[in-house]
Amino acid sequence: MKRFYITTPIYYVNDVPHLGHAYTTVAADVLARYHRAQGEEVFFLTGTDEHGQKAEQAAKKAGEPVQQYVDKHAKVFQDLWPKLNITNTDFIRTTEPRHTTKVQLALQTLKDKGLIYAADYEGWYCVPDERFWTEKDLKEGNCPDCGRKVDQIREKNYFFKMSSYQQRLIEYIKGEPDFIMPPSRRNEVLGFLEKPLGDLCISRPKSRLPWGIGLPFDPDYVAYVWFDALMNYATAVGYGADEKKFAETWPADVQLVGKDILTTHCVYWTTMLMALELPLPKKIFAHGWWTVEGKKMSKSLGNVVAPDVAVEAVGADQFRYFLMREVPFGLDGDFSAAALISRVNVDLANNLGNLVSRVLSMIEKYRDSSVPPHHIDKSFPMLNISTHSRSRYDEFMARLDFSRALEEVIKLCDELNRHIVESEPWSLAKDSSKSQELDNVLRGSVDTISILGMMISPFMPESADKLMRMLGIKVRADLKAGTKISAGEALFPRIDENKAKEIEAMLTPKTGETAAVQAAPAVPLAPQITIDDFMKIDLRTAKVLHAEPVPKSNKLLKLSVDLGFEQRQVVAGIAQHYEPEDIIGKNVVMVANLKPATLMGVESHGMLLAANDGGRLVLCGTWETVQGGIKVK
Ligand code: MSP
Repeated sequence: MKRFYITTPIYYVNDVPHLGHAYTTVAADVLARYHRAQGEEVFFLTGTDEHGQKAEQAAKKAGEPVQQYVDKHAKVFQDLWPKLNITNTDFIRTTEPRHTTKVQLALQTLKDKGLIYAADYEGWYCVPDERFWTEKDLKEGNCPDCGRKVDQIREKNYFFKMSSYQQRLIEYIKGEPDFIMPPSRRNEVLGFLEKPLGDLCISRPKSRLPWGIGLPFDPDYVAYVWFDALMNYATAVGYGADEKKFAETWPADVQLVGKDILTTHCVYWTTMLMALELPLPKKIFAHGWWTVEGKKMSKSLGNVVAPDVAVEAVGADQFRYFLMREVPFGLDGDFSAAALISRVNVDLANNLGNLVSRVLSMIEKYRDSSVPPHHIDKSFPMLNISTHSRSRYDEFMARLDFSRALEEVIKLCDELNRHIVESEPWSLAKDSSKSQELDNVLRGSVDTISILGMMISPFMPESADKLMRMLGIKVRADLKAGTKISAGEALFPRIDENKAKEIEAMLTPKTGETAAVQAAPAVPLAPQITIDDFMKIDLRTAKVLHAEPVPKSNKLLKLSVDLGFEQRQVVAGIAQHYEPEDIIGKNVVMVANLKPATLMGVESHGMLLAANDGGRLVLCGTWETVQGGIKVK
């Protein structure tokens, strides 16, 4: 039987593990646990990317031999994952012989097939990114990716005939709508493939970069770090070593990546696989990017969120829940300690946690802690509701829409709370003729709690186990009349104000620039207005359908937004703050009754709201997804 194979990117060892790494790995773990619970055999791979200039320079800076440095830093990742309850099947390191020898095999295979050739390369090279760029790629003479300076170089290198696969790849992507997800990323890749695809330089001269896998056909060269790294997905599951394992595992069912490494996976990796005559992964899903309190995480800002600190602060399950619930998978998100605390308190402690203790205490009180029987002559409203909820949850999980799957959990809690309020078990308990009715309410409620336990288990495995223990069972099917429950302590303790302050200090210490921004004087308040003045402004929710740069302007984006009752064209001065693809699908708020204006020759029918944070524009939207055209007051 084919295993369900899930991968994360393999992380660079020169960086400390942070929120971003935890995000992809937790998402992969949620998926792995979900599929295991369906009875599938899952192979879940993560690991570390240990070759290349980044690792070499970091080791030099640390004054350590490179191998020693990468060993130490790979261990930091390996030690972290159990703290987040990550259940990876394997952990691959690109310096392991099982990987290096098979990367050489792949290189030799391509060379033998005439798909790798040597040529003189002349162009620009970005040292930190280890990437070549052509003159026209450069942005104001700098690296278009990281903005840093590039060096002009001329040297012999080896190239993989990637260009030969361009047409085949375009056709494949067009024929498989779910291959690259979400659709905005698929369009991005197709857009990238509209331009002629060059061949891929897959070597680096050892004289310049010795820390890599030697080319089997030229001792003076090592493999380009991305060729080496991408191969991990195949070498870890037996490529060239264990045919049976490879056949049972490859192709990957889901490859999770951040949007930063979309092209390397959707273009380099896929064409490499085509050339090696291997099937392509079934799905590549590129998720969004996390910022911390609106800023890119960086060591100099001191705002890097360490996953182990987050676990220490709120608990592994709570942190996992936050990551998966806060942001629709695929879109960008912003981390703040306040948002994390609020999710824990509102969703977990007040809602789910309280609901569990409410139901279990009633069974304790009215039925001496024994689960009551069903009385089938009565209807079970909760049964229908939870069955529907469960199937919507499954649909969301199938689409990797983790945030909506968890929204279903919260909605089901709301439904059960409503059901309890409406059926008033405390009144039924006073009337002995209503005993069966009370049984049904309690039984329906505890059954729903067990379904909730099942739904949360891929996300919050420890809490799901704890809940099952409170229900006195191991698996949901064990819940029967007479099962002894125990209410015990709270499933999710509430974070009080003092603890919240402690958590904020742990997670987002205010240092350097962050502190300076906080101390900056506020813009003086505008003169007071009346409510009538305010009501003249018609604010509406809108969903961004399309975004593109306004030609010849470096500030403006032309957007098409959905107002529910109509679509509008709006020009917004946000091009220096958002990439068009980052805002497609976002829910924004706009002034809908502003007189139309023409900006750089393009008509604008409204204005988006944005916060001006010291010159950085941050779009305003709604916390929860709502339809376009809803009035905002
Ligand atoms: N080593 C390469 C990947 C090779 S895969 C064959 C690499 N490593 S990395 O350490 O930089 O990790 C990149 C991945 O970490 C991203 O694709 C994403 O999965 C995750 N993230 C890193 N920072 C992130 C955020 N700020 N937000 C969300 N995810 C981020 O690239």
